[in-house]
Amino acid sequence: EKGGYDSFMLKEIAEQPRAVADTLLGRVDAEGALTLDEVRIPVPELRAVEKVVVVACGTAFHAGLIAKYAIEHWTRVPCEVELASEFRYRDPILDRRSLVVAISQSGETMDTLMAVRHAREQGAKVLAICNTNGSTIPRESDAVLYTHAGPEVAVASTKAFLTQLVACYLVALYLGQARGTTWGDEIRAVIRDLAGIPDALERLLATMEPVRALARSLAGQDTVLFLGRHVGYPVALEGALKLKELAYMHAEGFAAGELKHGPIALVERDLPVVVVVPSPRGRSVLHGKIVSNIQEIRARGARTVVIAEEGDEAVVPYADHLVRIPAVPTLLQPLVATVPLQVFACELATARGNEVDQPRNLAKSVTVE
Ligand code: F6R
Repeated sequence: EKGGYDSFMLKEIAEQPRAVADTLLGRVDAEGALTLDEVRIPVPELRAVEKVVVVACGTAFHAGLIAKYAIEHWTRVPCEVELASEFRYRDPILDRRSLVVAISQSGETMDTLMAVRHAREQGAKVLAICNTNGSTIPRESDAVLYTHAGPEVAVASTKAFLTQLVACYLVALYLGQARGTTWGDEIRAVIRDLAGIPDALERLLATMEPVRALARSLAGQDTVLFLGRHVGYPVALEGALKLKELAYMHAEGFAAGELKHGPIALVERDLPVVVVVPSPRGRSVLHGKIVSNIQEIRARGARTVVIAEEGDEAVVPYADHLVRIPAVPTLLQPLVATVPLQVFACELATARGNEVDQPRNLAKSVTVE
């Protein structure tokens, strides 16, 4: 049932182009417009939303962190993202004009469920983004947008994460459409970009052999750091989480701009540092800053693993290892940038003799607080 792959995780990584395509299916009409009628929140209520709060755990939380950039960009509504396990214990400020988006692959995560219940008690509207039909979180929410990743067997989340991102982009556009902050042409353009992602992922997946070889060569390391900026920051957090849970290594993700505020003290000779580089096109200011960060850590002896867009030549002199990803619009970059990090963690775990589908101490769905 692993379809010829060594693990479910590898199989599910390979299924991502299809999972993304399926999650878009039926949500776009023949004219390229968004049709999210299944989200049964009336337009006047969407217009009245004054803030969006995303709650989730683990990898789904990282999807939420990325969603914030998309939601604020396309709707101009303030968006907070909070770990579900922290949310309800700090008496969050919610009312009828709050839209809570709960992201959960399983739909059964107790922390996220409790956050949903708390939000509804305060009168907030809750929209679930979920992969499991009929599970508890969507049943207890006001509305649901299902991701169509298909069943995810490996404990570490891969294809569910990518489809959560797609769902978050769709929600952001939908809200922007309802509120008049995003126009038809822009929405159609983003939808076209999203529709191109499955092909981009296929091309990317065909180039992962060097990433696997690199991972095997790092199996004896104790620590790996991950740096990113803007939407690349949550990608760095996700890369680090995957490595912790699968390879049982010390791994940390940082916002690259924070380096000089502390983490750079960790950099020493031969320390592998994975850097997710923003596109040099859109936000070139950030690109230049991250190139300086790469120079700084390399000057201190770090072994740099640079994840950069095809055609980005500025990073070449500072990359000990260069991983190319397809050029896509900035906000969508996590859909491609995460994939090499998934492969990296999976291969490193295997090289260390770990069971990748069933990491120690972890369960696929965490139904206790
Ligand atoms: C990491 C992972 C976990 C889950 C988290 C939330 O690879 O799988 O961090 O993302 O436990 O689970 P769901 O999405 O089912 O609520």
